[in-house]
Order: sequence, then C-alpha cells, then structure tokens
Amino acid sequence: MGWVLFPKLLYSQKQQPVAFNHALHNEEVDGGCESCHFFRDDGTYSGVPKLAQCVDCHEEMQGDSEAERIFVEEYVAKGREVPWLVYSRQPDCVFFSHAAHVILAEMECVTCHGPIGESESLKVYEENRISGYSRDIWGKNIAGIKRNSWDRMKMDDCSDCHRKENVNQGSVQTHKGGCFVCHK
Ligand code: HEC
Ligand code: HEC
Ligand code: HEC
Ligand code: HEC
Ligand code: HEC
Repeated sequence: MGWVLFPKLLYSQKQQPVAFNHALHNEEVDGGCESCHFFRDDGTYSGVPKLAQCVDCHEEMQGDSEAERIFVEEYVAKGREVPWLVYSRQPDCVFFSHAAHVILAEMECVTCHGPIGESESLKVYEENRISGYSRDIWGKNIAGIKRNSWDRMKMDDCSDCHRKENVNQGSVQTHKGGCFVCHK
C-alpha cells in the first residue's frame, strides 16, 4: 500500500497554466521545432518560447477554443509571460548543455524528453514536496525500473550514457572534469 500512497503524499500535482498543443502547432508553424526551440548565436538554447514568439499569430483569436481564449485574455492581452512548468528542470547545481548533445552528439529530443514534442496536450506536472524537483527527474517508477530512455534524468542516467560514450568524467581529486562536467 505504501508504494501506492507514498508517491501521492510526496508529490503535489500542478496543471500547466495554458493547455498547449504541440501536434497542432507543428502543423501551423513553418520550420518545425526550431521555430520555437532554437540555438542562440552564442550556442545557448532558447528553451521554452517567450510570449513574443506567439503574439504574431495570437494577437487575435485563431479559433474559438477555451484554451486559446485563456491564453489570449490572460497572457497575450496583458503582455504577461506564461509561467510554464518545466518537466526536465534540474536542480540549480547541475550544468547542462543542449549544444553538446543536440549538435555535437546529434541526439534526438525524444531520447531525453520522450514524445512531448508530438503530443496534443501537456501532462500534469508533479513536484516533489521536499526537494522541489520535478517527478520526471527521478522517474515515475519508485523501484527505479526504466522502460524508455526518457523515464528518468537522474545523475546515474547521465553518467551511464557518458561512461558508454567516453565523455570526459575527469578526476575527482584534481577538481578538473569529473563532478564539474555536470556541476557548477
Ligand atoms: C504560426 C501561427 C502560430 C504561432 C506562432 C502560435 N500559434 Fe497557437 N495556434 C495557432 C492556430 C492556427 C491555432 C488553432 C486555433 C483553432 O483552430 O482553434 C492555435 C491554437 C492555440 C491554442 C489553443 C490550443 C487548442 O488545443 O485548441 C493555444 C493555447 C495556443 N495556440 C498557444 C500558443 C502559444 C503559447 C504559442 C507560442 C509559444 C503559440 N500558440 C504560437 C497558431 C499559432
Ligand atoms: C509554437 C511553438 C512550439 C513548437 C513549434 C514546438 N514547441 Fe515544444 N514547447 C512549446 C511550449 C510553449 C512549451 C512549454 C510547455 C512546457 O514547459 O512543457 C514547450 C515545451 C517543450 C518540451 C518540454 C520541456 C520540459 O521539460 O518542460 C519539449 C521536450 C519540447 N517542447 C519539444 C518540442 C519538439 C521536439 C518540437 C518539434 C517536434 C516542438 N517542441 C515544437 C512550444 C513549441
Ligand atoms: C541529453 C538529453 C537531452 C536532449 C537530447 C535534449 N534535451 Fe532538452 N533538456 C534536457 C535537460 C536535462 C533539461 C533541463 C536543463 C536544466 O534544467 O538546466 C532540458 C530542458 C529543455 C527545455 C526547457 C528549457 C528551459 O530552460 O526552460 C526545453 C524546451 C527542451 N529541453 C527542449 C529540447 C528539444 C526541442 C530538444 C531536441 C532538439 C532537446 N531538448 C534535447 C535534456 C535533453
Ligand atoms: C544518451 C546519452 C547521454 C545522456 C543521457 C546524457 N549525455 Fe551528456 N553528453 C553525451 C555525449 C555523447 C556528450 C559529448 C558530446 C561531444 O562533445 O561530442 C555529452 C556531453 C555533455 C556535457 C559537455 C561535456 C564537456 O566536456 O564539454 C555536459 C555538461 C553533459 N553532457 C551533461 C549531461 C547531463 C547533466 C545529463 C543528464 C541530465 C546528460 N549529459 C545526459 C551523452 C549523453
Ligand atoms: C554526467 C553528469 C554528472 C556528473 C559527472 C556528476 N553529477 Fe551529480 N548530479 C547530476 C544530476 C543530473 C543531478 C540531479 C539529479 C539527481 O539528483 O540525481 C545530480 C545531483 C547530485 C547531488 C544531489 C544534489 C541535490 O541538491 O539534490 C549531489 C550531492 C551530486 N550530484 C554530487 C556529485 C559528485 C560528488 C560528483 C562527482 C563524483 C557528481 N555529482 C558528478 C549529474 C552529474
């Protein structure tokens, strides 16, 4: 029973502020994922799009859905950024670079994030009440079983792949590489 109840106690559930539909937008925009998620000139990743990337189309209602009405009235009309909840958010001590993985290692988004880029709705966000971590970092399965590469994004999951791919794990003693490949 504990295995059923414990996660319910440990995680609080939050709805995303706006019901965003990836599948619909992939058809509406030119340029695919990169039109919203792109690399800046300095190599950093833009991450979640800003309101400015939506207003060209949504200054006026495109359809008559409730989801769009909330988005237009609460955010576009008021010029407020949407406070999206990021499923993959790592704790502040972790350093992560999209360029290393997406450009240099040519990895697909789905390997780490799962098929969210093709989804019609955003899933519920679960936040660990103690650590504040997103549940997607430690995974849904409390026994630690992983069916897909994107089921978890814990330190072990990063390291397992880094070991296989011979990414510099460095030396703990000299404080070069090692922990500081992924930690600030
Ligand atoms: C290229 C134009 C375009 C851009 C850019 C765009 N949208 Fe849309 N969006 C649309 C169209 C078209 C619809 C469909 C309207 C309909 O038929 O109901 C839509 C629908 C929506 C809906 C309603 C979803 C639903 O399931 O009905 C939301 C919410 C939304 N957009 C949010 C956003 C956000 C947030 C951004 C910026 C990250 C954005 N859109 C960028 C064109 C665009
Ligand atoms: C019209 C803009 C738009 C397009 C096009 C788009 N996205 Fe998104 N994407 C968003 C918005 C808005 C969010 C914020 C929701 C969130 O934080 O999960 C998001 C979130 C994500 C996330 C979740 C990050 C996280 O952990 O919370 C991933 C992964 C992602 N998109 C992948 C993709 C992929 C892959 C494609 C192309 C197949 C794509 N997106 C196309 C607007 C877009
Ligand atoms: C090697 C695994 C990996 C791959 C591949 C990957 N991501 Fe991520 N992504 C992450 C991690 C980890 C984070 C959280 C970073 C953090 O919190 O500092 C993240 C964060 C994000 C965010 C939220 C960023 C923010 O700062 O708000 C978006 C959006 C996103 N990724 C989209 C994508 C898209 C689109 C692709 C494919 C082009 C992709 N990612 C490929 C691991 C990955
Ligand atoms: C499925 C494989 C895979 C996963 C999962 C993965 N990585 Fe990586 N990572 C790589 C590869 C391959 C490189 C080397 C890219 C290159 O330089 O060609 C890399 C490079 C890096 C670098 C740059 C290292 C340097 O020396 O410049 C950082 C930082 C990093 N990864 C952090 C992370 C973190 C944090 C996670 C987990 C949230 C993670 N990675 C998950 C494969 C992976
Ligand atoms: C390949 C990337 C990577 C390397 C190398 C790495 N870490 Fe981590 N570490 C992470 C990620 C991602 C997290 C957050 C997810 C988690 O808690 O598992 C984390 C979390 C932690 C935490 C928990 C922090 C907290 O606030 O909850 C500690 C402590 C830690 N790492 C210590 C170390 C030490 C010590 C080393 C070197 C021996 C090291 N790490 C090397 C990726 C890495």
